[in-house]
Amino acid sequence: MKIAVAADHGAFELKEAVKKHLEEKGIEFTDYGCFSKESVDYPRYAYLAASAVAEKECDFGIICCTTGLGVSMAANKVKGIRAAVCTNEMLAEMTRRHNNANVICMGQNVVSQELAFRMIDIFLSTDFEGGRHQRRINLLTDIENGKKLTV
Ligand code: RB5
Repeated sequence: MKIAVAADHGAFELKEAVKKHLEEKGIEFTDYGCFSKESVDYPRYAYLAASAVAEKECDFGIICCTTGLGVSMAANKVKGIRAAVCTNEMLAEMTRRHNNANVICMGQNVVSQELAFRMIDIFLSTDFEGGRHQRRINLLTDIENGKKLTV
């Protein structure tokens, strides 16, 4: 398993801690920046990591900013990406089981490092349930492809 990791300056410290956590778990990752606390624009870094997942260079993405919100918006604009902002363990589990999320987003000012590590462990070890949820994922793809949905 290979993980794409990225953050803006607002979550540089969380990203560094996440990298250490992944190293301790023996999980391979690529760091797509940023590389200091100097102010940067989060869409660039979210785009790089999300694109690595969309292009199957990485299996999952962990992308962070101050809130988790901006990077999730940016990541979700990359075709094939289902990014979820998570703030507790249940969300990290359910977004894998039901949404087949391939990117988890977190905010450095929202979650503790310990909670971030627990959410990452759950996210990376929980399988998609498929079944009726696959039908709904297919509808997300339809939206992505500009198809007009009806009810
Ligand atoms: C940066 O100041 C901040 O806006 C960014 O980290 C992120 O939280 C945006 O959604």
